[in-house]
Parts: sequence; C-alpha cells; structure tokens
Amino acid sequence: MNQRARLDPAPIPFIDVAAQRRRLGHAVDEAIARVLGHCQFILGPEVRTFETELAAFCGARHAVSCASGTDALLMVLMAKGIGPGDAVICPSFTFTATAEVVVLAGATPVFADVEAESFNLDAESLRRACAAARAAGLRPKAVIPVDLFGQPADYDRIMPVAAAEELFVLDDAAQGFGANYKNRRLGALAPATATSFFPAKPLGCYGDGGAILTDDEELAQVMRSVRVHGEGRDKYDCVRIGLNGRLDTIQAAVLIEKLKIFPEEIAARERVARRYSAGLADVAIVPKLAPGVTSVWAQYTIRLAPGRRDALAAALKAQGIPTGIYYPTPLHRQEPYQHFPIAEGGAPVSERLAEEVISLPIHAYLDEATQERIIAAVRRALAA
Ligand SMILES: Cc1ncc(COP(=O)(O)O)c(C=O)c1O
Repeated sequence: MNQRARLDPAPIPFIDVAAQRRRLGHAVDEAIARVLGHCQFILGPEVRTFETELAAFCGARHAVSCASGTDALLMVLMAKGIGPGDAVICPSFTFTATAEVVVLAGATPVFADVEAESFNLDAESLRRACAAARAAGLRPKAVIPVDLFGQPADYDRIMPVAAAEELFVLDDAAQGFGANYKNRRLGALAPATATSFFPAKPLGCYGDGGAILTDDEELAQVMRSVRVHGEGRDKYDCVRIGLNGRLDTIQAAVLIEKLKIFPEEIAARERVARRYSAGLADVAIVPKLAPGVTSVWAQYTIRLAPGRRDALAAALKAQGIPTGIYYPTPLHRQEPYQHFPIAEGGAPVSERLAEEVISLPIHAYLDEATQERIIAAVRRALAA
C-alpha cells in the first residue's frame, strides 16, 4: 500500500454518482436540454428510443419502461391477472419491493429460502414453498427470483421447478440487470424481467425509473396499457385497471447516455470486485460467482461470523469508510410479512445471512488507491 493511501483521511462515498457525472461530461446536460427544447415531457421520443436500445442491449424483443422498479414488478403481476387467492413465491432475503408488489396486486407472497453462496433463491425451497402455498389453500401462480447484489439466480435449477409447478417466472433484476447467465443477459432469460433505474443501481437514472423486458408481444402490449391507467384505443378508453406508471422523458434521455457507457462500467465494477476478493479472501467470506455467471456487483458483500460486523462497521466509519447491511432482517421476519406462509423448514439461510453480511463501497469509479485504503482498513479491523 502506498503512503498516500494510508494517510488520506477523506471520506469515501459508498456509491460515487458524481464521478459518473464527470465521466459523462456534457452528454447528459445536452440530452436533458433537448427534452427541455421539445417539451414532450410525458412519453416523448426519448422514451421509445431508450426502450429500443435497452431491449437490444439485453436481447429481449420488447422493453416497456416505467416509473420505478417497483412498478415494473407490479405491472407484470397486474398484466398477468395475478390477484386474490394466488400465491407468488419470493425469496425472503431481498428488498421489500419484491414481496410488496404481490400484496399490492391482492395476491399472497409465500417465502422461500436462499442459497448461502449466491444469496439467491434456492430451487428446493421454491418447491417446498409451493407445497406451503397449496396447504394454505392458495394457487401457486408465479415466482419472483431475485438476482441479488448483481448475480443472476440459478435459472437452470429454478426453471424446471417453475415448469413442473406451472409458475410464471418474473425475474427481479433490479440489482442484476446487465449481468449474464451462461452467455445470455438478464432480460432474455425469464418470460418477464423487471429492473430499476434508481440512481444507486448499476444502470441508474437521475430520479426514479424502471423497465420490463419480455419477448411476449401480448404481455408488452397489456403492460403499455397498464402503464397509462389501463388505456385502450386512446387515453379515455379505459379497458382495465392500471396505474400512472410512465418513465419521464427526461429520465429516458439520461438513460440513453448512461446505457452507452454501461458495458465499460460493468467491466470496471468487475475489476473492483476482483481486487476486493484478492485482498480479503483470507479474512472474510468473499462473494463467489457460480460457473458461467457474471455479476454487475450492485453490492460487494462479505460475510463474517455473527457478532463481528458491528465492530468492523464502526472501525471503518471512524476512518471515513461507509458500509451497508443488505439486509438486516429477512422479509418473513418483518412486521407486515410475518403472517404470510413460508416454505416448510423456514428460511434459516436467510436468517443467518441477515446476521453475517456487510457490504463495502463499490462503483465503477473506485480507484485503486482508495480501494487499497478500504482493504487495508478492513484487514486491520478484522485482525484487531
Ligand atoms: C431487489 C429489488 N427489487 C425491487 C426494487 C425496487 O426498485 P425501485 O426502487 O426502482 O422501485 C429494488 C430497488 O431498490 C430492489 O433492490
């Protein structure tokens, strides 16, 4: 480690959105100025252009942009007519939005456990969750695998269970969009994939935004209707219950520029993750990618023995290094979800992970000297 890195006390951002702003130069300002020029703020031409480019990026036939990752998930459930009496299987170790949308659609989330190494849905627990749903008098209708922290779930194991149980598969790629599963990008793997453009996401905009990717023409059409209050032939022909779920034209303009540098940023994030793993593998459990899978490293999350992470977080904080706990409580233990069914055997891995995980700063612009400072600080804290 060089001397400068050791002495530098400057606070380190967890995600450096400003560094990306500098990298983009005037491109974003000019893109926004074009929208300010034509004033088509709602579903302006940039929205369609972005959708076309996003679909091409991941190899899906259709992209339907929308107002957030949460709306993206909800719009799929609404378009598929999932509602009361239906069960939707969700991993318990995820962000609340994954299960929240199931309740908003009027259906019932049924929780399954995750795998310890990938943090993602365990296919065996998915099977048990379907049994738990039926035992509770519900119809298992869909599953929402999550590509947690940027790594795709194990679709080769999940898809056969979903097929046997006749479940619609909705991929929650809010954190994983841009990652590959066996040479296919997320977005082209499941019948529908939802993603989020929240600013902190690997592909983020400058506000809220989201999209659904699908090859299914009819589903895309229904979702375009759901997105605008269930419109039919025109705005005042109402053919279903919908939402106001549109992506702003200004955000689409920002995303067009950001998508251009996204592949370069994914490669940079991968380099940062590798450096962390090389520097920390002997002092913590570092993330392990499954064979044939890439990650976009929405988070770089290590695991420590229970009881150790608070001291690490405090030691790093004292040196200007932020950390995050994703997630301190699995969903089935959160107050609004406690009464929903759970797979037989519960979700012990989710519960253990909730006590062990801690995430370090990661973004495409984390330079080597700063990262050395983080790695050295983690090593010192864990040796203490
Ligand atoms: C796994 C997961 N699903 C869904 C969402 C919801 O996305 P948004 O915040 O854009 O509504 C998020 C983002 O925070 C997420 O991490």
